Amino acid sequence: MLKNLRYGWESLKISTQANGFAALLLLFCAIYESTLFPFIQVFILARLLDLVSNNHNLSLINLTWIIVGYLLSSLAKLLLASYKDAQQSYQEIKTDSFLDLKINTKLTELDPATFEDPSFQSLLAQIDGIKGTLQAYLARFTGLIDATVKFIVATVFLATTFPLFAPILLVASIPSFIAWNRFRNYTWPYYVEKRSLLVRVTQYIKSLLSSDSTSKEAAIFNTGPVLVRKIKSLQKIYYHDFRKAVNPRMFELILGKFIQFLVFIYTQYLNLTAVLNRSLGIGQFTLVFQQTMNLAFSAEEILNQYSSISVRTKYLDKFFEFINTQSRIVNVTSPLPIPSSSNPVEIEFKDVSFSYPGSNIKVLDNFNMKISSGEKIALVGENGAGKTTIIKLILRFYDVTDGVILLNGVNIKHVDLKKWRDMISALFQDFIKYQFTFKENILFGNTKDPNNNKLLEEAVVKAGASEYLVNLPDKYDQVVGKMFEGGIDLSGGQWQKLALARTFYRDAPILILDEPTSAIDAKAEYEIFEKVQQLQKDKTVIIISHRFSTVRNADRILVLNDGKIIEEGNHQQLMKLKGVYKELFTLQARGYK
Ligand SMILES: Nc1ncnc2c1ncn2[C@@H]1O[C@H](COP(=O)(O)OP(=O)(O)OP(=O)(O)O)[C@@H](O)[C@H]1O
Ligand SMILES: [Mg+2]
Repeated sequence: MLKNLRYGWESLKISTQANGFAALLLLFCAIYESTLFPFIQVFILARLLDLVSNNHNLSLINLTWIIVGYLLSSLAKLLLASYKDAQQSYQEIKTDSFLDLKINTKLTELDPATFEDPSFQSLLAQIDGIKGTLQAYLARFTGLIDATVKFIVATVFLATTFPLFAPILLVASIPSFIAWNRFRNYTWPYYVEKRSLLVRVTQYIKSLLSSDSTSKEAAIFNTGPVLVRKIKSLQKIYYHDFRKAVNPRMFELILGKFIQFLVFIYTQYLNLTAVLNRSLGIGQFTLVFQQTMNLAFSAEEILNQYSSISVRTKYLDKFFEFINTQSRIVNVTSPLPIPSSSNPVEIEFKDVSFSYPGSNIKVLDNFNMKISSGEKIALVGENGAGKTTIIKLILRFYDVTDGVILLNGVNIKHVDLKKWRDMISALFQDFIKYQFTFKENILFGNTKDPNNNKLLEEAVVKAGASEYLVNLPDKYDQVVGKMFEGGIDLSGGQWQKLALARTFYRDAPILILDEPTSAIDAKAEYEIFEKVQQLQKDKTVIIISHRFSTVRNADRILVLNDGKIIEEGNHQQLMKLKGVYKELFTLQARGYK
């Protein structure tokens, strides 16, 4: 009950934040139209009847106030109703947009570990329906007020003739209320929780079929029909279970209504008997009949609106659960300064073990590594060896399971998260292809320095993107990607160069590149790394690559296997060692001969 009220208040707050005072005015319009105006009408009618029955020589003058009151209240209704008609859809859309902003802002506050959690993804799919719910919540609250006022008016009216009608009809609505409550409790999961898998799969497949990059594969492998069948079979299961929840409850709903109907008939039996006994006039009989109808209707409506509000509260629970979701990794209350931030800090992994949340496979097991200030390190190793995981730990997207990561000797958990991440520029394997302008793709690398032309041009040259930039019709302002009008798609390697330029634009003391050149041709790759070596002299650079030509110039190469370093040294040292590195290097080099 309290929660329902609180959420009602929260919904109103959201709607007011989105629309300002106009939201309150709209709410007033709804309450006036459905509740106040009929109430005023009944009041005026009662006054009129009183006057007419007590005074036989009435003229219009005596009725001035009644007429003025009626005209004013009607005029107000006309104005308010028109305002509501004109404003409602506008406000609903505006509230939707406001929620879109709120949801997206919240998303920017959450960290990668949160997004990698499937239960969070399921929550995200469930809040999709929140927008309509919020509007419905307020509408139900107005409905509840409306029904309560109607109920009170009818109760007062019948108090002298049939005082028992109100309690009888209220009690008679209880079975129907219980039936509705059960119905909603059984079916509501099908609107939210149980629907989330279907919604997620459908959205995912839609994105596969509609994106220009994935549609090519779907076309050649003819996976379209298979994917659509996947949706169909999920739908079949969903609707089958949904029906199984609905059908048995139908009988209860009918029974509830039938009980109400019987009790109503009983009240009218009493009403009719009173007329036949002449204790009630025929005019009063009609009024009693009408007010009893109102009573029955509003009693049911009160309970119905209440049950509907309760079930919607569960929807809103999901929304507030989302809004209150905290990042998995949070700052300590009083973070220590990162020591010596003028030079890149030394990074040390000390006896680090790590398993991803919900898994007990140790991706890193007792892992030790030290990266000195300004060192150029390369990580190599087969797929799944744990290279990207090391990067995620350095960026503190996850906390280690055991051991510590030290930054100039200070535990990474004790330093300010944001300041630490600000010192790092990183290019990930699955980088973003912003479907905006060429320039924006790069400027997004450093939102603190959003318009530094010198840095921008340098970054473009360093990343080897200047060669194709000259051919773009709109140059820096060229929209790239095919999503928006006027956009020109780039090749895989061109996209990667653009992402690389973004990484360089950040100009941070530590540069992390996870497979930065997998799609870039050999000549361009060679040139990029020449520049990385020359231009990033004082920076720490961590490069992950499967191409040995990329890593051979690193100060130190770490060969990883199963979350452990198996070989370590520069290119010459590792070649002398005649181990895994040499074997793999020779294998690749042979391929190029
Ligand atoms: N979010 C995650 N949740 C659970 N396990 C994960 C997650 N990400 C990676 N793993 C597992 O951790 C192991 C190491 O993955 P990682 O991505 O670090 O490998 P990698 O060395 O970067 O491989 P690649 O060369 O293919 O990029 C793999 O076995 C992978 O299945
Ligand atoms: Mg990887």
